[in-house]
Amino acid sequence: MKVVITGAKGQLGLELSKQLANYSEYEIIATDRDELNILDANQVSEFISKENPYAVINCAAHTAVDLCETDVENAYKINALGPRNLAIACEKVGAKFVQVSTDYVFDGSGTRPYREDDATCPNSIYGTSKLMGEEFTKQFCLKYFIVRTAWLYGEGNNFVRTMIKLAETNKELNVVDDQVGSPTSTVDLAKAIIDLIGTEYYGTYHGTCEGQCSWYDFAKKIFEIKNIDIKVNPVTSEEFKRPAPRPAYSVLDNFMLKLVNLNTFRNWEESLKEYLEK
Ligand SMILES: NC(=O)c1ccc[n+]([C@@H]2O[C@H](COP(=O)([O-])OP(=O)(O)OC[C@H]3O[C@@H](n4cnc5c(N)ncnc54)[C@H](OP(=O)(O)O)[C@@H]3O)[C@@H](O)[C@H]2O)c1
Repeated sequence: MKVVITGAKGQLGLELSKQLANYSEYEIIATDRDELNILDANQVSEFISKENPYAVINCAAHTAVDLCETDVENAYKINALGPRNLAIACEKVGAKFVQVSTDYVFDGSGTRPYREDDATCPNSIYGTSKLMGEEFTKQFCLKYFIVRTAWLYGEGNNFVRTMIKLAETNKELNVVDDQVGSPTSTVDLAKAIIDLIGTEYYGTYHGTCEGQCSWYDFAKKIFEIKNIDIKVNPVTSEEFKRPAPRPAYSVLDNFMLKLVNLNTFRNWEESLKEYLEK
């Protein structure tokens, strides 16, 4: 059974390709922008019709959250029209479609972990464009899985690597302490997605590692595990202004995964330790 991965050179795409290789029932078709540009509706339609896959997992996205605020057209094209093109093409051949989404569809004013049925209200271009991608997915494809994740790290650029790099040239770092979320390893997320595509439990899911912390706590834990001696100062979002507003609280409850007995996400500290000790 063929599984097409788009954006396969990104963090999640790489991990999915790696893990899917252990499943003899699946044949991986890993594509990135050069092989399959998700913006090109004709190319997407032809490619998916020709391959006639069992499932398509969309890992392609415009993930530069701050840049999206000014690169608005591209943000909407990649994060909204891209999944629309894929959803339409999947529906035509009856393929299952996985659209990966984000905690940034919420405004962050919540006080308990967000469930899948909580009202969305993005406050950034990235979040708004990803929400539109979710809506197109639901509108154009019956056999969909929308999987919202957050604070992702794997092979590629991410917060963990940035912190370690910054520690090479700085004696102290200021890190935001008033945004709370759940750092999530691509290892845990890829496994959850592979489990889901083996089912017919279509719908919207939250998929993040268990537990929660602030970016400051996250940084401290990275340095503790790596034995890096550096002073970390907690600062507020107001002191550390960024072009795109971030949700203050974006902890997601993997409620739906728990309901279908597929919540295999580990605690964020355990997954982080494994990642850093590799
Ligand atoms: N990273 C996070 O913290 C985070 C948090 C929440 C949700 N998510 C979601 O999780 C998913 C995976 O994120 P990630 O961190 O793995 O992303 P990533 O590392 O930024 O990878 C995205 C990939 O998509 C490719 N791409 C961009 N435009 C494309 C196009 N038009 N056609 C085909 N490929 C294209 C990129 O190629 P180029 O490098 O050439 O642009 C890149 O290889 C995304 O849906 C993202 O929104 C991520």
